[in-house]
Amino acid sequence: MNDVIVANNLSHRFADHPVLNQVTFRIRGGEIFGLLGPSGAGKTTLIKILTGQLWQKEGVAELLGTDTRKLTASEHRRIGAMMDHFGLYERLSVYDNLAFYADIYHISRTGIGGLLKRFGLYESRKIPVSKLSKGMTNRLSLARALMNDASVLFLDEPTAGLDPATMREIHAVLKEQKERGTTIFLTTHNMFEAQACATTWLY
Ligand SMILES: Nc1ncnc2c1ncn2[C@@H]1O[C@H](COP(=O)(O)OP(=O)(O)O)[C@@H](O)[C@H]1O
Ligand SMILES: [Mg+2]
Repeated sequence: MNDVIVANNLSHRFADHPVLNQVTFRIRGGEIFGLLGPSGAGKTTLIKILTGQLWQKEGVAELLGTDTRKLTASEHRRIGAMMDHFGLYERLSVYDNLAFYADIYHISRTGIGGLLKRFGLYESRKIPVSKLSKGMTNRLSLARALMNDASVLFLDEPTAGLDPATMREIHAVLKEQKERGTTIFLTTHNMFEAQACATTWLY
């Protein structure tokens, strides 16, 4: 299968502080790629570069064959991202968060109920996000990232701080997505998670 994500000698620094130094890898379609590194290693920075939110200082990154500095709306529609609960509104209910997202992306609302059931959130659909536990918030964040049926998923420490049971549920969802052909880029600072879940991992 074709390479879906390519990094070629990517380097980045914030002012004089080097963060990424000539990072090179290729990720084929349908792969779960785990990036393992301690806090501060540059994992989030790399995801921001790969999704076009930040421009690297050197090197080239490509997503779905396009330079990540030139991603268009049509490529953005094929990406799902879960990072720092971005895209969740604390005062809106669980259901309304997904409905809001569906409306923005012109996705039918009809799949929301099923998605909430799949993530064990259906009973909590009327609760505002501010009242959810960390595990529930992560599950909602992942559900939101899956809504546009993305072909590439970026998950920034999706299980950080979660109990083992919730962590296993999230891993099961990732494996299901992989079976559907989704390419998954996942970061973690947990060595066991990288081994349990990813087909390829990089330190
Ligand atoms: N916008 C920014 N401005 C300055 N420094 C930053 C910025 N974002 C991240 N950093 C620094 O870059 C390094 C890597 O950060 P980050 O990519 O968030 O690492 P990780 O996600 O692996 O914990 C850290 O030292 C962090 O403080
Ligand atoms: Mg990070």
